[in-house]
Amino acid sequence: MNKKWKALIAAMFLFALTVLAACGSSGDESSTEDSDSDSGDKSKLIVGTDATYAPMEYMDDNGNIVGIDIDIVEAVAKEIGVEVEFQNVGWEPLFPAVENGEVDFAVSSITITEERKENFDFTDPYFVANQVILVPEGSDIKSAQDLEDKKVAVQINTTGHIVVQDLLGNTNPNIVATETMPLAISEMLNGNADAAVGDNSVVIDYVKNNPNVELEIIEDDYFEKEYYGLMVKKGNTELLEKLNEGIQKIKENGKLKEITGFDME
Ligand code: ARG
Repeated sequence: MNKKWKALIAAMFLFALTVLAACGSSGDESSTEDSDSDSGDKSKLIVGTDATYAPMEYMDDNGNIVGIDIDIVEAVAKEIGVEVEFQNVGWEPLFPAVENGEVDFAVSSITITEERKENFDFTDPYFVANQVILVPEGSDIKSAQDLEDKKVAVQINTTGHIVVQDLLGNTNPNIVATETMPLAISEMLNGNADAAVGDNSVVIDYVKNNPNVELEIIEDDYFEKEYYGLMVKKGNTELLEKLNEGIQKIKENGKLKEITGFDME
């Protein structure tokens, strides 16, 4: 065999090996993903979140996903004997990620709503919240109704977005819907919006951490109580029941109260 042929055969061989390796690895990944998504009893669960929501879920200075929600899920996981790994999926992509099994469940200060319950299953509530209005100090906005003719920033597709749509009309161009809550607050700070509306814990935390910015938080009974739940793929009853078992345990043993600082029921 001459040199050319040898080189050609060697090249073909290498190519075949690469193709095989590529198939092999992608095959492995998809098969673990498949078994991940459906079984509630494997030891490591992938938990999706939108880690832009301090103090609930956010990235610390070392790039770790941390927060109250994260501590709660860790505590639940410990009670039911599973390991969890958090993935910062983002807010809007979180819903399809749960639906298609990319993550096993989601924790993200997700309010349990009738509408969401049509497409997802939720655990028992583990946290109570409500919307609040954030405005620059001295604003003439004093109530939810005052928002009606104002520009209002919200995180897109959140319950904050929905209440503002209820007040202003679904397609009102005065609604500034951003990808994250910090962006919604920025829109208010830079004057693109007169107010921002979001979950109380996050808005309160923002004001606390930015004492130099002159802001006011407005509470209004117009905003109903909201309850956070862990969100699983619809029909994943096995996982749902396990998570509920864990939530029940940390409610009973005081761990949940220790993490959040308040009694949940
Ligand atoms: N509780 C609100 C909702 O369910 C906002 C949650 C936003 N969470 C987040 N991590 N960005 O719509």
